[in-house]
Amino acid sequence: RQCGWTPLVDCYLYQGCWHHPFFLRGVIAAQQHFEAQPTDIFLCSAPKSGTTWLKALAFAIVTRKKYSDLSSHPLLSTMPHQCIPSLEGDVASKEHADQIAELPFLATHIPYHSLPKSIISCGCKIVYIFRDPKDAFVSMWHFVSRITPKDATYISLEEALELFCEGVSFYGPYWDHVLSFWNARKEAPQRMLFLVYEEMRKEPLPSVKNLADFIGHPFSVEEENEGVLQKIADLCSFEYLSDLDVNKNGKNGPNPAVAIENSAFFRKGKIGDWQSHLTPEMAERLDQVTREKFGGTGLPSYVSD
Ligand code: A3P
Repeated sequence: RQCGWTPLVDCYLYQGCWHHPFFLRGVIAAQQHFEAQPTDIFLCSAPKSGTTWLKALAFAIVTRKKYSDLSSHPLLSTMPHQCIPSLEGDVASKEHADQIAELPFLATHIPYHSLPKSIISCGCKIVYIFRDPKDAFVSMWHFVSRITPKDATYISLEEALELFCEGVSFYGPYWDHVLSFWNARKEAPQRMLFLVYEEMRKEPLPSVKNLADFIGHPFSVEEENEGVLQKIADLCSFEYLSDLDVNKNGKNGPNPAVAIENSAFFRKGKIGDWQSHLTPEMAERLDQVTREKFGGTGLPSYVSD
């Protein structure tokens, strides 16, 4: 059906999750053909939860010895999405297959229950980042608005909110996406790291350190004393990356049909930006779903005061 978020794209409900048609083809191809290796590391998220940030951090952590001179670091000239490919978007292309061989990472928005079976069975590591559903929703609304041609009628915030709460959004329902990984973590906690956008934004260093430990590239005491951890956090910060020419200009995407301006991935990078967009009633509508879905799970409640 037409998902309603944009008049230009039909969405498909597949295994309980709403997909853009281009990426759905990639999801099905990955389910049929992708063979994960135990050494792979998957960076997983629902859209607009901090994927770009996580890609930059993972890339910078693993390559920090090779690129110790930050003045010529690849992130200064390469958009994070081009440093780490997407499973359902890019994995078929030769160029990206080569990148995968170099780095252990692949990113995906596929919910846990739809991941290719080999990812579940091979025991490889999974990092999941998530964020307050209210901010993820506002971020998604802006993002879809940015990528919708100016002459197309765009959905109102109110309509988008209703759809989002009903679960209709790209890779939605948002809450079920988070829960799919959260519940899977109970089975194999050692293979999954959960990162919380808000915690990272308030105090990045502990999460960057945890991420480095988890992906097998811990910071040594010398590195910490020399400020390497801090430098990587600064390099990957919203403030730094969003101000680079490469992220202000240019496009990225698996093919020109779905290429998106890099700047669309860097908007405000704030905790609680929903407060400038949602009325108390709209926030309560989202909180109500969050209460129903996250209540009693141990996930942050994200309910407004
Ligand atoms: P906002 O729209 O709230 O600003 P994703 O990368 O999953 O598409 O998520 C995009 C969101 O993460 C956007 O949120 C974007 O501004 C924010 N973001 C991008 N890079 C970031 C970074 N380095 N640090 C913090 N937030 C970042």
